[in-house]
Amino acid sequence: MNEAILQLKDIHSHIGSHHILQGVSLTIKKGVPTTILGRNGAGKTSTLRTIMGLNPLTSGDITFLGDSIGGKKPYEIARKGIGFVSENKVVLSELTVEENFRLAMINESEKSWQLMEKVWELFPDIKKFWKAKAGNLSGGQKQMVSIARSFVDERPLLLIDEPAKGLAPIIVDHLGEVLKQIKDKTTVVLVEQNFHMASLVGEQYFILDDGRTVHQGKMEDLVLNEEVKKKYLGIG
Ligand SMILES: Nc1ncnc2c1ncn2[C@@H]1O[C@H](COP(=O)(O)OP(=O)(O)OP(=O)(O)O)[C@@H](O)[C@H]1O
Ligand SMILES: [Mg+2]
Repeated sequence: MNEAILQLKDIHSHIGSHHILQGVSLTIKKGVPTTILGRNGAGKTSTLRTIMGLNPLTSGDITFLGDSIGGKKPYEIARKGIGFVSENKVVLSELTVEENFRLAMINESEKSWQLMEKVWELFPDIKKFWKAKAGNLSGGQKQMVSIARSFVDERPLLLIDEPAKGLAPIIVDHLGEVLKQIKDKTTVVLVEQNFHMASLVGEQYFILDDGRTVHQGKMEDLVLNEEVKKKYLGIG
């Protein structure tokens, strides 16, 4: 059995008087791409933000590779080896595509440039627009830059919030393949509304509803489970 890379035990999070997360528990196993599903407002983004220390953890435990990271600062959590691509897919508009990538290369090592070569191969548009100002790219191109930036520093864990949103179907498939291929180096946790992408990448799934974990299992079982898909995801 794979060891756990990330574990959330009954986490709660409050923002002001709002009790946003009300008992999220997840175990992400090393090398097992995992999808977090749930309808709008279920608490998916809040869960990723709480893991990253961007939203407050009011109770419960978060452990990464056996160390408790609950209550640590976002930069401390990132430095431990957790990458995060946020829901709004920010790029630094005033900088070129090249500068956006160089900013993401923590040490700008030979290894980073080897990974960069791979990114160019996978997303030829990124090479094409290398010297362009990131702010001038189309929405989908910005999204690609924002996601691909997380591939140049090979972190053990990568959290990505809705990568498929706004991308053309062919790019979604392509990106899905990439996210599957990196599993030996990087365990990917994907929040995804696009069930095709979710089932393409995820081997394990968790469903959140009303800020709680309500279902979990193997993706291959969920694909066939019409009742659960209908009840919690409104599909089928
Ligand atoms: N800063 C905030 N202040 C108050 N309520 C918030 C805040 N952030 C999120 N919420 C609420 O918390 C709940 C969970 O939001 P969250 O963004 O985690 O949902 P989600 O599962 O990512 O949804 P979506 O699929 O629409 O992105 C929602 O009801 C949302 O309105
Ligand atoms: Mg969200």
